[in-house]
Amino acid sequence: MTRIAIVSAGLVLLWAAGAFAQDAARGRQEFVDSKCLVCHQIAGEGNKKGAALDGVGAKLTPDQIRQWITNAPEMAAKAGIDRKPPMKAYTDFPKDKVDALVAYLSSLKK
Ligand code: HEC
Repeated sequence: MTRIAIVSAGLVLLWAAGAFAQDAARGRQEFVDSKCLVCHQIAGEGNKKGAALDGVGAKLTPDQIRQWITNAPEMAAKAGIDRKPPMKAYTDFPKDKVDALVAYLSSLKK
């Protein structure tokens, strides 16, 4: 019985890790498609003058990254950032798209 429980728990973990990796891969594509690279740079790709997001997963929690995407003006005000051009609040993104972007950016830990 315990063995079955351990194996099932292992399977659930594997599934979760797989789902996360899949989300991260989709998030990378969404990042490109959503033109985030116009203002941001990841691994040297994107606007050379843009804010680099390498290592953002080590700097911010997934929740903070989510708030940046959906409410950047408030996050910038809180952090005292007034870099131009400012980032808008992407309030029209469906939840699964934001989830994917958060999974991708959280995976960037340098
Ligand atoms: C018009 C320019 C612009 C666009 C487009 C843009 N951003 Fe931003 N973003 C900024 C600026 C300016 C900041 C402020 C922080 C900085 O300068 O590092 C920022 C900050 C962030 C941060 C917090 C970074 C940190 O180190 O605190 C995240 C995460 C982020 N953006 C994600 C995105 C995503 C995802 C997209 C695409 C959906 C996007 N941004 C599109 C300009 C932009």
